[in-house]
Amino acid sequence: MNNSVWYHPGDGYLAWLQYRRAKDAEAGPYDAYHHIVAADQEDIVLRTAVNELAQGLEGITGNKASVSGIAGTTPNIIIGTFGTGAVIDDLFSAERSAAIRAEGYAIRTDSLTGNIAIGAAAPAGVLYGVFHLLRIMGTGGSVQDLNLLENPVNQLRMINQWDNMDGSVERGYAGSSIFYENNRVTSNLQRVQDYARLLASSGINAIAVNNVNVHRVESRLLTEFLPDVAELAAVFRAYSIKVFLSINYASTIEIGGLSTADPLDPEVREWWSAVTSQVYAAIPDFGGFLVKADSENRPGPFTYGRDHADGANMLAEALKPHGGIVIWRCFVYNCKQDWRDRTTDRARAAYDHFRPLDGRFMDNVILQIKNGPIDFQVREPVSPLLGAMPETNQIIEFQIAQEYTGQQRHVCYLVPQWKEILNFDTRLHGEGTTVKRIVDGSVHGNTYSGCAAVSNIGKDTNWTGHLLAQANLYGYGRLAWNPELSAEEIAGEWITLTFGTDGTLSRTLLSILMDSWEIYESYTAPLGVGFMVNPDHHYGPNVDGYEYSKWGTYHFADCHGIGVDRTRATGTGYTTQYERVNMEMYESVERCPDELLLFFHHVPYTHVLHSGKSVIQHIYDTHFEGAERAAGLLSAWMLMKGAVEQTAYGQVADRLAEQAEHAREWRDVINTYFFRKSGIADAHGRTIY
Ligand code: GCU
Repeated sequence: MNNSVWYHPGDGYLAWLQYRRAKDAEAGPYDAYHHIVAADQEDIVLRTAVNELAQGLEGITGNKASVSGIAGTTPNIIIGTFGTGAVIDDLFSAERSAAIRAEGYAIRTDSLTGNIAIGAAAPAGVLYGVFHLLRIMGTGGSVQDLNLLENPVNQLRMINQWDNMDGSVERGYAGSSIFYENNRVTSNLQRVQDYARLLASSGINAIAVNNVNVHRVESRLLTEFLPDVAELAAVFRAYSIKVFLSINYASTIEIGGLSTADPLDPEVREWWSAVTSQVYAAIPDFGGFLVKADSENRPGPFTYGRDHADGANMLAEALKPHGGIVIWRCFVYNCKQDWRDRTTDRARAAYDHFRPLDGRFMDNVILQIKNGPIDFQVREPVSPLLGAMPETNQIIEFQIAQEYTGQQRHVCYLVPQWKEILNFDTRLHGEGTTVKRIVDGSVHGNTYSGCAAVSNIGKDTNWTGHLLAQANLYGYGRLAWNPELSAEEIAGEWITLTFGTDGTLSRTLLSILMDSWEIYESYTAPLGVGFMVNPDHHYGPNVDGYEYSKWGTYHFADCHGIGVDRTRATGTGYTTQYERVNMEMYESVERCPDELLLFFHHVPYTHVLHSGKSVIQHIYDTHFEGAERAAGLLSAWMLMKGAVEQTAYGQVADRLAEQAEHAREWRDVINTYFFRKSGIADAHGRTIY
């Protein structure tokens, strides 16, 4: 809770936890609710739940809420866990409470008294229930006949911070780190606490607090800086969020004084076991380790002739006695490729490395798999590794940070993209084996399951740089909780909670968000081919930026055509990593979906798409239209002046203006490049340089 009010209305700091009072209402619909009944306030998470509820009610009703162990004049809001006293037990049937799992909750309104009860199996559920009730009130919903029960669909709903201890954030587009400065954990943890609230309110329950690229100083988070990590963990514990650390695979060498990091070396194993015990002595509910190994020049077991299972299991063994888990990333590929070498295909790498290891990982190891086979592009197929290892725990990794989707200078609401990925049918166990069912663990009955995502926040007052990028952070949490929610529903919630209930404003924002992914895709890399960005920082158009580099991200454009042949028949054979029906769809140039055509096939510019347009005309049309639609976003927003707080208006207007200008730049660079390569004129004679 932030009592020192240094932020201002409309600056975005409170994000979706505004708790606005309905402006003109003399008597708001929730005003009668100002007494909270909570029998047990010993537990830290329950205490948080009470505080959050009190704070929310105060904002929404304008009244200070009272709290006690017994009911006052009706109506009350009664919250608690089952089995801790009649207060909450009597309000829910045995059948109802039995249906609630570890983090779930039920909410019901008693029609006679108007009392609202939130009951859960554990304090975390009470907290989520409180946030749910506040969300109903914050979006103007009725609380008269509530009778709902919620369990999270995904067990692990994790955030990955890519924060470094020097205060920088890898791929951070919203200012410096809120966690670290000057190679220390920051001493003022207020922002971290405010962040914990945002995360918990959207349903997040785990966080890795440092970058997956772990350098020398960050390696010492495990040891020297452990007391500071314990303080971070205490902040997150109050919001029922478990803390994980990204670790340096070569810690034994880097900070342990050993000469090796061989996972089968007894001394290495002993070192990890001792260090892990110390971590748990300091943080008894520590989550575990997140590991990027043998990836992009980070150390790993390959150096010792061992494989990923050897590496992961060594750490899993150290964590096992404490109930901890290893999250091992599958972002492993040859990043020193020779662009002349057409046999190596980066897209194949994760599957080729990990699939043969199925069954070899301990049950407290989880593989974390990026949503696509390359790297968080605006369009990629789904990673074929998802679901392909039935004996292994897997979670999916998304990137909320908009590294390749406009770096929070362009608006790009990513929930529709994530939904499409989660709904993809892998068909690995017959029709209906969707990614969301693999991820939630129901297909293979895994011990652990869920999702992780790279955060998009920093020290900017509005957290995310672009105010509208907050919708992605909120949306990720909501989708991780329940992948069945629609992208519109989530956007609608976020808009109302953040901006209030003005109808025109809501409609404008909804269409800006819902169109934004398509618009961004239309003026950037076409038809799934990816990249075409400036090297290193990845912002702005550069068609050949990566074409002759070592990173394995090529488009192979020449004067005849463009695209990567990943077919079994004539290409890299990547298509064979999919189940047969999907494989045949991608293999066939006729049946491959347009939006992924250039990911799977090299075709002439004159190739005709399902849309009826040639590839080259598609490129021209989408780029002209995309830039125009980007400009349209700004015009639409400009009509909202006066309907929204000036600060918020200005923030969004500035970003949309920049986007409109950059979209034109993209349009002209891409169109000109392909006009010069192909020599084919635009059918509509528009200006190409
Ligand atoms: C991308 C990104 C890197 C990051 C890497 C990863 O390649 O550009 O900054 O370290 O992904 O996911 O590990």
